[in-house]
Amino acid sequence: MSEAGVSLYEAAGGMEFFERLVGHFYRGVEGDDVLAPLYPEAPDFSGAQGRLTLFLAQYWGGPGTYSRQRGHPRLRMRHFPFPIGPLQRERWLVHMTAAVEGNTPEGDIRDALLRYFQSASEQMVNAPGGTP
Ligand code: HEM
Repeated sequence: MSEAGVSLYEAAGGMEFFERLVGHFYRGVEGDDVLAPLYPEAPDFSGAQGRLTLFLAQYWGGPGTYSRQRGHPRLRMRHFPFPIGPLQRERWLVHMTAAVEGNTPEGDIRDALLRYFQSASEQMVNAPGGTP
């Protein structure tokens, strides 16, 4: 909730905003030779895109569809099958930062999203020494 009592989900533009954001992000991932091979369903990214969209919408105060479909997020655990070192984290964050900057005006919403993604992506690193 913001000071005005409106969730970031609503303030940013609801589900359409998160669909645009994650669509932009996945166009970056698809063309990334470090990240794309990690995705079990590649070259079909539509499932992964849908899951990330619903997770983010829920996280920021939107509908709880993600947890109804997938259960408790447990994101760190769900990422254990994918080796994520500093390089993978950096690439992920580059694409997400571009998506945020391409879909939000400068201001509080942009800043909150960028701060969150910086910290969340760091928490997902499970191979801090790098991957082979
Ligand atoms: C740090 C770099 C990251 C990498 C390399 C990475 C990679 C992946 C991969 C390969 C998948 C499986 C795709 C699929 O669902 O089929 C996945 C799933 C997912 N990721 Fe990440 N991820 C990263 C960070 C993050 C962050 C920071 C978040 C949240 C803010 C996130 C949220 C999710 C979600 C919600 C799923 C679907 C989980 C499920 O319901 O199964 N990821 N990620």
